[in-house]
Amino acid sequence: VIFLLQNPVLFHRIRSFINGDYLSDFIDILGLGEGDRILDVGCGVGEASVLAGPGMSYLGVDIDERYIQYAREQYDRPGVEFQNGQLSEVSGRFSHAILVCVLHHLSEQEIYDLSLRLREMVDGPIGVVDPDAEKSNLFQKFLLYLDRGDYALRPIRGHLVGFEEQYECRQVLTRDTRLKGARLTYSVLTPR
Ligand SMILES: C[S@@+](CC[C@H](N)C(=O)[O-])C[C@H]1O[C@@H](n2cnc3c(N)ncnc32)[C@H](O)[C@@H]1O
Repeated sequence: VIFLLQNPVLFHRIRSFINGDYLSDFIDILGLGEGDRILDVGCGVGEASVLAGPGMSYLGVDIDERYIQYAREQYDRPGVEFQNGQLSEVSGRFSHAILVCVLHHLSEQEIYDLSLRLREMVDGPIGVVDPDAEKSNLFQKFLLYLDRGDYALRPIRGHLVGFEEQYECRQVLTRDTRLKGARLTYSVLTPR
C-alpha cells in the first residue's frame, strides 16, 4: 500500500476516489475570498490549489519532488505556484495557511517548530484537517494503522498541542469522507 501511495498518479486517483471533495469546506471555515494568499504546507500533488478562486493566490510546498512535479503538471495556472523543499526555504507573506493531512506525519517537536515558522509568515488563521483517530470506527482505525504517518493514531488535540502557544485552536467540524474510509476533523487556528 505504501509503495503504491508513493506514486503521485496513484496517490491522486486513490485519494480522490475514496475521499470525494474534502477541501471546499475550507472556503467557509476560513472565509476565503478575493485578495487572499494561501500557503499549503505538505501540499502533496497540489489538489488544494483549487481553493484559490479569482483574485487569490496559492503556494504549495512539499519535500517530495515527484509530488511537486506532478502538481505542476496537473494544476499549474496563473496565481498558483509549487515549491519543492522545506518550509524554511519559502519566502513571502501569506494571509492563510492550510495543513491537509500533514500533522499526522510530524512529531510534537516538528509541529512546534512549524507553528513558530507559520506565525512569522502568515498573518491570518491556519486551517487544519486530519483523520480523527478518536472518532474513527474500527475499520477506519485499521486503515489509520496502515497509514504512512507515524502519528496517525494520535488524537487531534495531540496534533494541535504544539500550536497552542502561538494559536488558539478550535475543532470546528468532523465528518466522514465519501466512502467512509476516514473520519476527518477540521480545525481553525487563530493567531494569539
Ligand atoms: C498524506 S500527504 C498529504 C498531501 C496533501 N496535503 C493532500 O492532502 O493530498 C503528506 C504530505 O506531507 C509532506 N511532508 C511531510 N513532511 C513535510 C515537511 N517537513 N515539509 C513539507 N512537506 C512535508 C509529504 O511529502 C506528503 O506529500
